Amino acid sequence: MTVLASRRAFLGYLAASPAFTPMSCAYAQLAGIGEDRVIDNAADAINVFDFEPVAKRNLTSAHYTYMAMGVDDGATLLANRQGFEHLQIRPRRLVDVRNIDTRIELFGISHASPVIIAPCGTHKMFHPDGELAVARASATRDCLQILSTVTTTSVEDVNRARGAPVWYQLYPTEDWRITEALVKRAEDAGCPAVAVTVDLPNSNREAIDRFRRAINPECLACHEPGLEGSVRRKPMFDGLDLSAINNTRAPQMDWDFVERLKNLTSMKVLLKGIVTHEDASLALQYGVDGLIVSNHGGRAIDSRRATIESLPEVVDAIGGRIPVLVDGGFRRGTDIFKALAIGADAICIGRPYLWGLSAFGQDGVESVLDVLNRELEIMMQQAGTPNLGAIARNFLVV
Ligand code: GLV
Repeated sequence: MTVLASRRAFLGYLAASPAFTPMSCAYAQLAGIGEDRVIDNAADAINVFDFEPVAKRNLTSAHYTYMAMGVDDGATLLANRQGFEHLQIRPRRLVDVRNIDTRIELFGISHASPVIIAPCGTHKMFHPDGELAVARASATRDCLQILSTVTTTSVEDVNRARGAPVWYQLYPTEDWRITEALVKRAEDAGCPAVAVTVDLPNSNREAIDRFRRAINPECLACHEPGLEGSVRRKPMFDGLDLSAINNTRAPQMDWDFVERLKNLTSMKVLLKGIVTHEDASLALQYGVDGLIVSNHGGRAIDSRRATIESLPEVVDAIGGRIPVLVDGGFRRGTDIFKALAIGADAICIGRPYLWGLSAFGQDGVESVLDVLNRELEIMMQQAGTPNLGAIARNFLVV
């Protein structure tokens, strides 16, 4: 197969996959209310899926694929969505739900909603305003933002735009001196927490490999061949000696690393990518301050296991002692409700806000947050749960 033909085949797979064809499409066809519409205004979005075709239209095929892809056969990517379908909700009736309160508090800071902006790299790939647009949207919506190590805007500029510090996501790389520098910089910028990604010692990213960046004219317009774009062109690495690394991976990381990181910083330390009770228990032993149950949006291992299915064992092992966040396939208020019912403290979104950003910049991100928060509030009214504390596991069929 030529590069072009295989790319088409991959995009065909994406187009046909449930992860990218919302369940609501099937429903719309069934009910005869479907329309092939591409919105031209963020305010016209009915649900978060409305942003995706606009994002696809606005992005180069390489950048769209980079965002959309999973690893290997894309099975974990699909599982993340399908996991929600296996869970049914048991609503309670006759509860006064005129006033719905979605506020949460994490490490002493309050936020309007349990929906958090997950760390995704290189926002300027999606919109020229990049992380600044996302920071401004997170400020107007009082939403917590976690900033990627491979941000295309410095943490200082993002914090300034947001008016309050973000949490920092850490790819420590293989060089401890770089870990130290990144962590110190985030701490100096006022970040209260650092979330270290532990699920990416390596990954098999065939979909993007097919673009062969070194020869693809679309890529060569911006990327210098020979330089590792994920590191050298990113502002968090400015001024650092990168001679010992080629990329952001950290296959050397072990529990001693976690201990060292805890000793290095006064920020709260979270581990992002924990999916088993064994690792959750170890995290407690090592004094970790919080967990993010994550399979990297299906971009790390093709385990075929949804994060919503990993969540119960992690929540049970933690037993409320530290916050547990979760990401992976959240597209609906009902998805958020299900995770909160299992015991998550908050959920993180990735691709939906990147769709919004790619489509309409800050407006798009704000609208994605509005849509999800609105759906969550409707769901909480439906379930008879006026505040987050009222949501519990008995709201699910188990
Ligand atoms: C980075 O975190 C990626 O998944 O590309």
